[in-house]
Amino acid sequence: MYTHHNNELTIADVGKTVKLKGFVQRARNLGNLVFVDLRDQEGITQLAFDADNELRMEAGRLKAEYVIEAEGKVRERSSKNKDLPTGDIEVDVTSFSVLSEAAQPPLLVRDDTDALEEVRLRHRYLDLRRPRLKKLMKLRHLTVKTTRDFLNEEGFMEFETPILTKSTPEGARDYIVPSRLDKHHFYALPQSPQLFKQLLMIGGFERYYQIARCFRDEDLRSDRQPEFTQIDIEMAFIDQETIIDLTERLMARIVKETKGVEVKRPFPRMTYEEALRDYGTDKPDTRFGMKIVDTGDLFAQSGFKVFKSVLQKQGVIRGVNAEGLASAYSRKDLDRLTKEAEKLGAGGLVHMKMEAGEIKSPIAKFLSEEEKDGLVKRMRMNEGDLVLLVADEEKTVRKVLGRLRIVIAKEQDLADSDELDFNWVVEWPMFEYDKEAGRYRSLHHPFTRVQDADREKLASDPLAAKAYGYDLVVQGYELGGGSLRIHDMQMQSEVFKVLAIDEETQRERFGFLLDALSYGTPPHGGIALGLERLLMVLGKTDNIRDVIAFPKTQSGHCLLTGAPSEIDSEQWRELALKKEKKREG
Ligand code: AMO
Repeated sequence: MYTHHNNELTIADVGKTVKLKGFVQRARNLGNLVFVDLRDQEGITQLAFDADNELRMEAGRLKAEYVIEAEGKVRERSSKNKDLPTGDIEVDVTSFSVLSEAAQPPLLVRDDTDALEEVRLRHRYLDLRRPRLKKLMKLRHLTVKTTRDFLNEEGFMEFETPILTKSTPEGARDYIVPSRLDKHHFYALPQSPQLFKQLLMIGGFERYYQIARCFRDEDLRSDRQPEFTQIDIEMAFIDQETIIDLTERLMARIVKETKGVEVKRPFPRMTYEEALRDYGTDKPDTRFGMKIVDTGDLFAQSGFKVFKSVLQKQGVIRGVNAEGLASAYSRKDLDRLTKEAEKLGAGGLVHMKMEAGEIKSPIAKFLSEEEKDGLVKRMRMNEGDLVLLVADEEKTVRKVLGRLRIVIAKEQDLADSDELDFNWVVEWPMFEYDKEAGRYRSLHHPFTRVQDADREKLASDPLAAKAYGYDLVVQGYELGGGSLRIHDMQMQSEVFKVLAIDEETQRERFGFLLDALSYGTPPHGGIALGLERLLMVLGKTDNIRDVIAFPKTQSGHCLLTGAPSEIDSEQWRELALKKEKKREG
C-alpha cells in the first residue's frame, strides 16, 4: 500500500518516510543525479536519486509510463517548483520496484500534447492519464454526485428505465437492436426516458429522477453525441413554477459545488418569440450585446431596390451593431461574413461602418439622408461601429443575424467564458409548420400540455396555441428542456390530430401510454438537462468529447474499440438478417 497521493506532500512532511506509487511522467538522468517525476490520479511528486544512491543506475533506466512504487524520505528541494503543489519537496528514494513496464506511448501524456485527436481517441486510456481529462472526469463525478445529493434531499427517487425498448418521440432516428427470439422484430434504444417517466407518475410515484443514458441517431455536432446523458426529472401534482424553481436551485448548487461561485436567481426569462426576435435563435447567448434590431420601416420608400423589393414581398430588414468593430473587419473579412450569410440562405449582407462621422457602405449612395439618419439613431451607431443588415424573409434574417452574432463574438472574444448566463425561454408554441413536409410538428414533443387559455386554439388555430414548455439556455447552448404533460386522453388525441398522426399509428406507437392515461393520471411535468452540455460550460470546453470518458467521433465511431463493427455470419443467421446484395458495377 502507499501512504500518500502524489499531490499531498508539503514542506510540513519533511523527514517522513513515505511510500508512493504511480506512472513515470519522466526520468531525468543528469549523470550523477537522477530525478523521476511520479504521477498518479492526483498529481506529481519528484523522486530523487543522489550520486551515492545505489539505486541511481537502475532509476536512470526508467521510461515514461512505467508503473512503479517507491519508498523514501521526504526532504526539502534545493530548487523549488512554484507550479507544483509538491514543488517544495522531493523524496530521497531508498527502495523502488517496477510494477509494470510500458511500451513507448504513441502520444505525450501531457496537457500540452501535440497528438491529434484521432490518436488520443484511439488510445483513450493514455489520453485519460492527462491532468486535463482527469480534472474533467472529476468535474463530471462531482456534478452527478451533487445532482443526486440535491434531488435525494428534495424527496426524489432514483429510477432506471429500459434501454431495450420501443421507439420514443424525441424526433431523431432510433438506434435499432434486432431480437433473436422474435425474428424480424426490433428494440429501439431510448432517445429519452420520456414515456417511462410519465408512466411512473401514472404508477403513483411523485418525484422521479434518473441519470439517464439516451441514444439518438442524428447528425453530430460539437455539442452532440449519439449517446449522451440526461439529468432527467419528473414530478406529479406540480406547476411550471415549481419545476423552474427546483431546476434553478439544482443549477445553483452544482455551480457552487463545482466552481465555488453563487449564481444569481431567479434566472431571467424571455419568451420564445422574444428570443427569436432579439437573438434570432431559441438558444440565445446573452453574454454580449449585438441584439437584432428591426429597421424595415426606415426603408419603406427606399431608393435601394433590394430593400424595396424585399419589403414588397413582406420580408424584413434587420441588423446588428458590432460596436467599435469597424476597424476590426477589413474588406476581406466582410466578404467572408457575406459568404457565411449566403451559405445560410441570405441573398447578401449589407455592411456599414461609421467612420469620420459618416456612414461608409457600398450602398450608402442609394440611401437618402433621412434613411441614413434614421438608421444611425435606430442602430445607435457611433464612431467606429460596424452595422450588418440583412433583408430577406423573416426566418432567413433571424437565422443569418443570429449566426453572425455568434461568429463575431467568437472572433472578437466578446463572450466571457466564466459568465454563466442562465436564461429561461418560455411560452413555446405547441407547433410549428413544416412547409416541406406539409404538416405540423411539435416544438417539444407530442405529450406537451397546451396552456389553459389556449385550449380552444388547438383546433381553431394550432400555430397560436402556446404550450407549458420551457428551455434552459446558457452560453448559447440548449442546456435543458421540459414541459407540463398532457394528462387527459381528450387533449392527447386532439394533439395527435393536429400532428396528423392517425389512430392506427397512435395505437401502434403509443398505445401503452394512451391506455395508461385512461386509468387516472395525476397532472405532471418535468425537465431533462443535458449533462454533457452542462459539463462543457462548467469545464470551459467546446468539445463534448472532452467530458465523456469514452466518446465517439463526429461520424459515430469509437476509435478505441472499433465500434460499430461487423458481426459474424452465425449472428446474421441467428437474427434472420440478410446482407444487402452489393450492386453490380
Ligand atoms: P430534449 O430532447 O430537449 O428533451 O433533450 C434534453 C437535453 O438533452 C441534451 N441533448 C443532447 N446532448 C448531447 N448530445 C445529444 N445528441 C443531445 N440531444 C439532446 C440537451 C437537451 O436540452 N424528454 C425531453 C425532456 C422533457 O420533456 O422532460 C427531452 O429529451 O441539453
